[in-house]
Amino acid sequence: MDAATAIRHHYDVGNSFFGLWLDSSLTYSCAIRGGTDDTLEAAQERKLGFHLDAVRAEGARSVLDIGCGWGATLKRLSASGVERSVGLTLSDEQAAYVRSREYRGVDVRIENWLDYEPDALFDGIISIGAFEHFATPGNSIAEKIGVYHHFFSKCRSWLHDDGLMSLQTIAYANMSRESANQFVQHDIFPNADLPTRRSQPPRKGSSRSSRSTTGVSTTRGHAKSGRADSVDTAPKPSISSAPT
Ligand SMILES: C[S@@+](CC[C@H](N)C(=O)[O-])C[C@H]1O[C@@H](n2cnc3c(N)ncnc32)[C@H](O)[C@@H]1O
Repeated sequence: MDAATAIRHHYDVGNSFFGLWLDSSLTYSCAIRGGTDDTLEAAQERKLGFHLDAVRAEGARSVLDIGCGWGATLKRLSASGVERSVGLTLSDEQAAYVRSREYRGVDVRIENWLDYEPDALFDGIISIGAFEHFATPGNSIAEKIGVYHHFFSKCRSWLHDDGLMSLQTIAYANMSRESANQFVQHDIFPNADLPTRRSQPPRKGSSRSSRSTTGVSTTRGHAKSGRADSVDTAPKPSISSAPT
């Protein structure tokens, strides 16, 4: 199964299904809760705000959203006055949904990041909840790291010298792929494999590239409770990259 088929298997089952259990913005990734009485809406808003702040969207002219879903981040970028925002997705239904909203300055493309070649560089890149799809179960650890290295190299080449990137992902932490839920692996998210902490980018000061990682924050709670709104974390950077 190729990447696009795997994505459509999961995401193109009718937007109304996702509307039953996601927040009204159809944000489909872990939120950042501010407290136990936070609503899912508020926690998702906080999470999106965090990523927009991380790439300094206020004042940015162009931002790329890799794995844009139903466009919650693109909507926020448009409302923030970003002139040019590009969203990448492999889902036909997501792209059609975002296009129907006609957000000012937003271009949605049904395109794999592997094939994407931008017309112009970006001030910022945001990627939330897509990294989980980039490696496949057949990849060895070295191959997974190779995929991630290729991804970050591409992102670096798409950014202006002072560009910023903010990325959020679920990771296995100390759990192995073999001990993860097989139903989720085979039927819900086929052909996807989560990163482990070992395969995440190097911390500040250890980068081999001309970019540096300025913050990595590990959250907890998702695997324990299984709820998309359950991430319990201080609003610190996930992975933000800046020039050295
Ligand atoms: C869990 S959704 C997250 C959507 C959105 N960022 C959010 O937080 O609501 C994952 C997204 O990544 C996209 N995606 C996965 N693999 C991709 C790839 N190789 N190239 C482009 N988009 C990809 C999917 O199409 C989907 O839009």
